[in-house]
This record gives sequence, structure tokens and C-alpha cells, in this order.
Amino acid sequence: MRSRSYKTITFAALTLSAGFLALTAARRGSASGKRIESVDFGKVVRATSPAFDARLAPVSDAEVKAFRIPITDATIEIAKGVSYRGWTFGGTVPGPVIRVRVGDQVRITVLNQSPIPHSIDFHAARIPANVAYRMIMPNDSISFDFVARDAGAFMVHCGTPPVTMHIMQGMYLPIIVDPRNGWGTTADKEFVLVQSEFYAKPGDSRQLQSAVMAPMQPDWQAAMAKQASHVVFNGRAFQYKDNPLKVDVGDRVRFFVVNAGPSFNSDFHLVGAIFDRVYPDGDPAHALTGVQTYTIPAGGGAVFETVFEQNASGEGLYPFVTHSFADAEKGAVGIIQVGVPKQYAHMEH
Ligand code: CU
Ligand code: CU
Repeated sequence: MRSRSYKTITFAALTLSAGFLALTAARRGSASGKRIESVDFGKVVRATSPAFDARLAPVSDAEVKAFRIPITDATIEIAKGVSYRGWTFGGTVPGPVIRVRVGDQVRITVLNQSPIPHSIDFHAARIPANVAYRMIMPNDSISFDFVARDAGAFMVHCGTPPVTMHIMQGMYLPIIVDPRNGWGTTADKEFVLVQSEFYAKPGDSRQLQSAVMAPMQPDWQAAMAKQASHVVFNGRAFQYKDNPLKVDVGDRVRFFVVNAGPSFNSDFHLVGAIFDRVYPDGDPAHALTGVQTYTIPAGGGAVFETVFEQNASGEGLYPFVTHSFADAEKGAVGIIQVGVPKQYAHMEH
């Protein structure tokens, strides 16, 4: 199966559209005829302004997919006007979105460009954890391959102790593994949503005297008490309330939802619609039908589908929430805008 004789040449930079996952693809027919696609997440960074770009491009048909992921510290915005000194994969929280297909060879290289040890744990992989998920020291790197065998929406995260700290600092990303022959339906739009919590407290008080806007810092006590300051989709509180995800009337929409935690469940619900399909773990073999709310455990994922049909869930605004409402109040609310609806001054949720 594997060949070490691949020689790759860069042939194209495919930019699918502004803000979309741009792939720098390197491919060539090798002796085995396998197509290779390489993405350097040090160079291809997902847009986070005005909101983290939740749109997904289709999976490519390259059989070998290689991803280079740098670990860096970064100042991120966890709510409007609230900055936080985080630890990241690829400079954003969540980190880069990876999409592959069942049967693909996935080649991962992670470089630690931060001052402390980290690691990476792929829930989508079947691989000896002590080898692939070992500690990566500052300025060191790790490389490993795995074959994606299981369809789904999976969490990837830093597994360095204390894991709670590394996750609450922002070290997670989603990997989507498409079934070899697709999902069984044709989606008009696809989005990725990663729920997570932050436990933030004001920065150093000496800083506060001079710099009111000093980045927030992690509050370990609050994390151990599970008292989150913010609960968010894709790294920032309420961002899709201000910048709704847009679809058209009649669209079948597929949501890949991953719950990064570190400690809360996500009770995913779409106000004004019913999911005609939910795939727990993201595996179509687990299909549920006619679902109002589905709970995704911390460290889990699921795929949700609904159709925004005329005369049913047609033109209008549809909030998506975690139905654990104390968490929704802290930021885990967004809106799907179907068509161009009349805007009302007040809407619940
Ligand atoms: Cu880490
Ligand atoms: Cu894990």
C-alpha cells in the first residue's frame, strides 16, 4: 500500500473562494498512482473575522493527504472585545479543519513552535498512542501516518497533562472523515461547528493598572469547578448571532458538530427545525431520524442534517444552541439565516 517513492511537485494552489479552505495541493502520479495532497496550516489559515469561517469545501479525491500543523501561542478573541492568550494548533481556535475520506492515508506532521511541551491526539486514528501522541518538546516535531478507517466527525486535541489546561487554552481541531461513498444524501451546504468552554479571568492585576484591555488568562480553579466564563461555537461567544450562517430555502444542510469540552456536554438543537438525520459519532451506520436535540459528549462528535423546506422550516431565522441553557447564555448560540427574511427587533434565544 504505502510507497516511500513519492515525489511531489506543486502544481496548483486551489482557492475555492474567499475564506474557504484553500488547499495548496501537491500531486503527481507516483509508482502506485496515488494522488497526494499537502496542506501547510502554517500558510493556509482559516478566516476568523468577522467570524470563524464555518463553511466546508468538499473532500478531495487524493488518496494520500498530508497536513503540516504548527503549534503556536496566539492572542485570540473569545468574545467581542475580549482577548485571551491561548495555545493553538495553526494560530486559531479551533485549529485548522481537516477533511479526509475513509481509506485515505493521512500523514501528519506537527511542529512545536511554542515554549512548552505539547502533543496531538487524533480520535479518528487507530494507532499506538505512546508513539504517535508522545510529547513534542519546543522546537521539535513529530510525524506519523494512519489510514482513516471510521467515518465521522472527530476531535483532535493536545493530550499533554494537565489535559484540561491544554484544551481550555484552545488546543483542539475537528477532523471530518467522509464515508468512502459519501453520506447518502446530497447536501447543499455544509458547516463545521466545534463547541468548547473557556475559563477566563482578568489578566495580571499589575497590567490592569496600565492596560485595561490586557488579555484574559486561564482560571484553573474555575475549570476544576466547571464554572465556565464562556461557552462557544468555533472559538468565540455569539459570533454567529452577529454573523449568521446563510443558506437558501430548500437547502439540505449538513452540520459536523464536535464537542471539544474540556468538560461540558453539548445538547445540540436547532430552534424551528427537526433533524431528519443524526449520525452519532458521525457514522451513517448509527443513523437516527426525527431528532429534536442530540447530546454530544465532551470528546465526541455527530453529524446532523435538516432541510429548510418552503412551507415548513422555510425563509426565516433559526437559532442553533446547546439546549443546556446556562451554557447557551454564556455564548453557545448562533443563527442560521434561511433566504432573506424580514428582521424583527426581538427574537427569543
Ligand atoms: Cu498542549
Ligand atoms: Cu481525547
